[in-house]
Amino acid sequence: MTLTVDEATGPADSGGPGELPPIPDGAIMLTVKIQRFNPELDDAPHMESYRVPALPGDRLLNTLHYIKWYIDGTLTFRRSCAHGVCGSDAMRINGRNRLGCKVLVKDLIGDKKNEVTVEPIKGLPLLKDLVVDMEPFFDAYRAVKPFLITEGNLPTREYIQSPTDRARFDDTTKCILCAACTTSCPVYWSEDAYVGPAAIVNAHRFIFDSRDDGGQERLEILSDAEGVWRCRTTFNCTEACPRGIQVTKAIQEVKRALMFRRI
Ligand code: SF4
Ligand code: FES
Repeated sequence: MTLTVDEATGPADSGGPGELPPIPDGAIMLTVKIQRFNPELDDAPHMESYRVPALPGDRLLNTLHYIKWYIDGTLTFRRSCAHGVCGSDAMRINGRNRLGCKVLVKDLIGDKKNEVTVEPIKGLPLLKDLVVDMEPFFDAYRAVKPFLITEGNLPTREYIQSPTDRARFDDTTKCILCAACTTSCPVYWSEDAYVGPAAIVNAHRFIFDSRDDGGQERLEILSDAEGVWRCRTTFNCTEACPRGIQVTKAIQEVKRALMFRRI
């Protein structure tokens, strides 16, 4: 029977290492090179390599689980849903920001001799191994007021919104706050005061919502020196987004609304 590595290994419980599970039929031996950093022991991050049996259809996250459960229980990374929904496992895989749970082994190995490199996302303080401090990212998110703001009397019935009005911000509702866009942005790496693409995407989601009255307030926030004008339109963010959001387009729409003072 062919098992995925997940099925072969079962749920995480031990903090590893444990007895090795049977290698599933069709597995290849993958070398996973991971950036390790323990702030209590290390002066600087370093790379460590692990040999992991993996099926071509396994997700990279499966291989990290295997390492944690069976080889080195100290490996530290975030993940929750394992299905591209929670946004907690953004990491740099072969140099590109991706979700560990969405990228398949077969799409990573190519001509790279069954070798994969995994590093933490850049531009946020490194805490341990693949875990970074997300607080600066969420500070920027909170700064753009990512919630519905209404003025005047509350309506006595539901808000009516036409499909056309809804379509204006539909794309940016898909954000899962993984930070893949923001931490792929060279401006964010060099100027950490920049709010970053994800905050602008989440501002866009409300600015162009016909039910919201806080658009001008958010535009004011984003016209600040650390706001949208820092964007250099490098498109890294759009490329990195695991939800396929047109991040650069959303940023351009916010810039246009600011230039013409019209939402
Ligand atoms: S816009 Fe895309 S890449 Fe950026 S935080 Fe949202 S889901 Fe992640
Ligand atoms: S673990 Fe939830 S998005 Fe990957």
